[in-house]
Amino acid sequence: MCGIFGYVGNRKAGKILLEGLKRLEYRGYDSMGIAVIENDELRVIKDVGKIDEINKKLHLENVGGRIGISHTRWATHGGVTRINAHPHVSCDESIAVVHNGIIENYQQLKKELSEKGHAFKSQTDTEIIPHMLEEFYKKTKDPLKAVLETVKKLKGSFAFLVLFKDYPDRILVARYKSPLVIGVGDGEAFVASDVPAFLKYTNKVIFLDEMEVAVVKRDGVEVYDGISGKRKEKEVVEVDWNLEQAEKAGYPHFMIKEIMEQKESLLRVLGQDENIMKAVEMLKHANKIFVVAAGTSYHAGLVARYWFVKLAGVDLNVIVASEFPHFKNLVDKNSVVIAISQSGETADVLEAVRESKKRDAKVIAVVNVMGSTLMRLADLSLLINAGPEICVVATKSYTSQLSLLGLLAHAFVGKLEEGKEKLKEMQKKVKEFLENENNLKLAEDLAENLKDKQHIFLIGRELSYVTALEGALKIKEVSYIHAEGFAGGELKHGTLALIEDGIPCIAISPLDKTRDEILSNAMEIKARGGKIIGISEENNEVFDEFIKVPKLNGNVFHPIMMIIPIQLVSYYLAVKRGYDPDKPRNLAKSVTVK
Ligand code: AGP
Ligand code: GLU
Repeated sequence: MCGIFGYVGNRKAGKILLEGLKRLEYRGYDSMGIAVIENDELRVIKDVGKIDEINKKLHLENVGGRIGISHTRWATHGGVTRINAHPHVSCDESIAVVHNGIIENYQQLKKELSEKGHAFKSQTDTEIIPHMLEEFYKKTKDPLKAVLETVKKLKGSFAFLVLFKDYPDRILVARYKSPLVIGVGDGEAFVASDVPAFLKYTNKVIFLDEMEVAVVKRDGVEVYDGISGKRKEKEVVEVDWNLEQAEKAGYPHFMIKEIMEQKESLLRVLGQDENIMKAVEMLKHANKIFVVAAGTSYHAGLVARYWFVKLAGVDLNVIVASEFPHFKNLVDKNSVVIAISQSGETADVLEAVRESKKRDAKVIAVVNVMGSTLMRLADLSLLINAGPEICVVATKSYTSQLSLLGLLAHAFVGKLEEGKEKLKEMQKKVKEFLENENNLKLAEDLAENLKDKQHIFLIGRELSYVTALEGALKIKEVSYIHAEGFAGGELKHGTLALIEDGIPCIAISPLDKTRDEILSNAMEIKARGGKIIGISEENNEVFDEFIKVPKLNGNVFHPIMMIIPIQLVSYYLAVKRGYDPDKPRNLAKSVTVK
């Protein structure tokens, strides 16, 4: 789940690697390292800690050379130590490798290589790659052949970059199941885990497919099939993301910037009627409809389930991606699987999709990242177009997923135009809410009151039940306060036992048919000492504190509006507790391991 970045061109390598890595830091941030070729020497610098801390100590921006590779790590094999940080090198220190993924057969390969005399320094799975390359390079004297031979031996997932000291004009790269994209510049080239890392320099991209190997030079890129070794023609795609979307633009953190972007991002799902109607056709012909997703995207799937039941009387079987293997025998050729994923790289989601395709099911992707693996595996892709989401915590991608899925549900019952009108109306409300500075202040004050609490509960019914689940996830992952979301009616079946004096409970209470019941549930909590924070269009005596959202007039897209105050409170909680909301501990943006 780490970030990898490589550069070859005329700029000073240290500075550009550092800058690229900084843009990828959200993917992993326990340690980092770079390798460059300078004056015919291969130089490796690595350490434990965050990029800025390490740079202060080691002054990476001053490192010379015009070619280099770099890595920011999210450890899977081997502790967080300097030795385990990437790059890893061959015995003769002439080959350096950075890797994202897991080499599942590394123990076997390590044994074989050790028997041949290779000495290993780290506990990582990755280190077998430079040693194996060394073996094949000795035999073939050809860096490309060495990479092609090596990838054949590896099981698991990988995106790796290689520097050969003997070839200071090229980076060798390979990918299988982990993301890797190549940026084609003018007299320079970039390789990275995702596009925003090099967007400042180029928007011309080659998306590598599974089991492809490439030779990246400043004046051109050659791509090869990793199995046959044959040269392949690849399209250079121009992506329409711009740098501004990938930068903080004056905000202190990406999280708040991305929350604020929801004023505009929601409507970027429009303009794909044709694909939405194709998806509707597929769904109409399906005997069973599954939804697979993880984390926040799973919550978007749960909202979609309520919408489909509510609007169409059709149920969706929404399954957490990592649990999908236990349900896979329900999937057949008449099934349609909707896979929801911001990154399009979540390993569990991809696994579920591959499994479904094996069973001849049709797959519809609801995805943000163009060119992602999910997009390429799916029969049809619906883009949420939220723009790059850099903060590890999903905010704008969630509300864009809801926008898209809401349109799909409306289109399913022949009401796409009505759906669009409702979405536009909701976008206006979101804009109104976020443009009112009092609301931000209110969320900040609330965070001040909550910041020393140990537990926060959230309740809602129907669509707002899912808002409670998503709200709890937001609070937990960014503030590290224990939070739990419940269906309002469920609390008294056990959890009410935890309510005592001063325990905060957020009640999500739109003015719809759930209003009276959720207020009764809030009353039950208050009677036991709980403090009720209402998120609603209208105040009520049961609320001790209250965040007012604009009047929603029964608009079914309300989960989009209702989550926003909770996103804001979560953000301020993190800041007030002294945590970096963009990079919560132990987490990574794309969970590319199972
Ligand atoms: C939520 O804020 C995320 N940290 C996480 O739960 C995320 O939604 C999940 O990992 C799925 O990611 P995806 O949408 O890229 O597949
Ligand atoms: N498996 C490698 C390691 O633990 C790479 C991890 C990653 O992809 O972040 O170092």
